Amino acid sequence: MAMLKNMLKDRRANPRKVKSDFFDYVLEELDRGDSILTEAIALDLMFVLLFASFETTSLAITVAVKLLRDNPRALQELTEEHENILRNRENKESGLTWKEYKSMTFTFQIINETVRLANIVPGVFRKALRDIKFKDYTIPAGWAVMVCPPAIHLNPDNYKDPLEFNPWRWEKGASKNFMGFGGGMRFCVGTDFTKVQMAVFLHCLVTKYRWRTVRGGGEIVRTPGLQFPNGFHVEISERQTE
Ligand code: HEM
Repeated sequence: MAMLKNMLKDRRANPRKVKSDFFDYVLEELDRGDSILTEAIALDLMFVLLFASFETTSLAITVAVKLLRDNPRALQELTEEHENILRNRENKESGLTWKEYKSMTFTFQIINETVRLANIVPGVFRKALRDIKFKDYTIPAGWAVMVCPPAIHLNPDNYKDPLEFNPWRWEKGASKNFMGFGGGMRFCVGTDFTKVQMAVFLHCLVTKYRWRTVRGGGEIVRTPGLQFPNGFHVEISERQTE
């Protein structure tokens, strides 16, 4: 927040002629006389968006690469799916199309399984608007409730061998217990965007590059957010065309 505050001060003192990023647009909105934004709200918004959009997808992609490194069979099937897409492409000059994206069945299984295991958001918050009866308990009106998705994602009653990376468990489609992107009214607005980003990343990774892990790393800690304290280092080289 201190960094964002300094940025805000700096940009106000030296306004840019051409707006270059989202923060510039937020500042423009802030300076409009009739805006509902205050400086505090604008800073909160920037903070939340940085966390919600950048930290989440980059972590999910890192976890996916780590899980694929540890599961050669899954990596093999993923690579085959994407090589097939290239093989069946009519116009070889074309980039990835929407139709191809929608055909990535196994990729979506990898993404769901990664998000289930990654549990990037350890808790979502709600407020009881009226007394809620749950089993023998009553949650009184006005109380805050923290819903804990990892408790659901790692429960063996919901997912057999829950700690195992098993993308094939999604073969039958979505699972009603899955809440990696939250649920209800505050469902993550970035869900589909995340899936596109992850799928395009994986497509490029397995079709254009070869990679291997170097220098160890890859240990995960939860504090309670997911982190890689020693990073996760990979060496990437361009794939030779066969
Ligand atoms: C792996 C990636 C992501 C995960 C696991 C994730 C997860 C979540 C979760 C659990 C929530 C809370 C929902 C609730 O309270 O029920 C949420 C909300 C939100 N997410 Fe994401 N998210 C991801 C990516 C993104 C991206 C890429 C964006 C933006 C481009 C984004 C924007 C938001 C916003 C704005 C909200 C608040 C929605 C609201 O309160 O109405 N998220 N996300």
